[in-house]
Amino acid sequence: MRIDVVTIFPGYLAPLREALLGRAIAAGLIDVRVHNLRDWTRDVHQAVDDAPYGGGPGMVMRPQVWGEALDDVLGDEPARLIVPTPAGVPFTQATARRWKDEPRLVFACGRYEGIDQRVVDEYASRMPVEEVSIGDYVLVGGEVAVLVMVEAVARLLPGVLGNPQSAEQDSFSDGLLEGPAYTRPVVWRGREVPAVLRSGDHGAIARWRRDRALERTAKRRPDLLAALPEDALDQRDREF
Ligand code: ADE
Repeated sequence: MRIDVVTIFPGYLAPLREALLGRAIAAGLIDVRVHNLRDWTRDVHQAVDDAPYGGGPGMVMRPQVWGEALDDVLGDEPARLIVPTPAGVPFTQATARRWKDEPRLVFACGRYEGIDQRVVDEYASRMPVEEVSIGDYVLVGGEVAVLVMVEAVARLLPGVLGNPQSAEQDSFSDGLLEGPAYTRPVVWRGREVPAVLRSGDHGAIARWRRDRALERTAKRRPDLLAALPEDALDQRDREF
């Protein structure tokens, strides 16, 4: 998968080259290119923003520089353009799963009060464009949101995680939060690992894990339980 990021703060994206993502890049599984938006400015001040029409606080990113940058970065290769914004559609695990099969994702990071809306409208007339939010809070720009989204997508790519089952068994993959996990020693500061996990009874372990996932989801995210499809819970789940 190829990933391009256009930003006025390329340094913000440096963590993409660390740890799991760094190894995926080194292994050639993803090709990440970060571009500085200011390279496409034409004035001495390299201005990328201007005052909003209609008044109000803050500045809006100018369409001309974005148009020139995106034309160059996009080229003729098919791609999906993603614009992080707190005013976007929520990014979820389902979004990550949908994007993981794309050959190319291009992220346009806005700062200030956002990018002139005509940029989104223009590219949406010729390619898939999505305005997405990573949560109901406001960041100062889209860069951190890109780090979040790229990591969520990259770990779903074949060969990126050591054990592919990790991605399949995560929180959200079955619509529930994952339950608690334990490792050695059996007793730590007087707290014991639940006996069932040490029993070797795989059926009982699976049932226990399912119950803990249901319990945790009911407590922390009742909205997720309510959103499960009709057939997602069996009779035994309902008894729980
Ligand atoms: N830019 C600023 N806040 C954001 C958010 N919550 N999600 C995505 N992009 C953003």
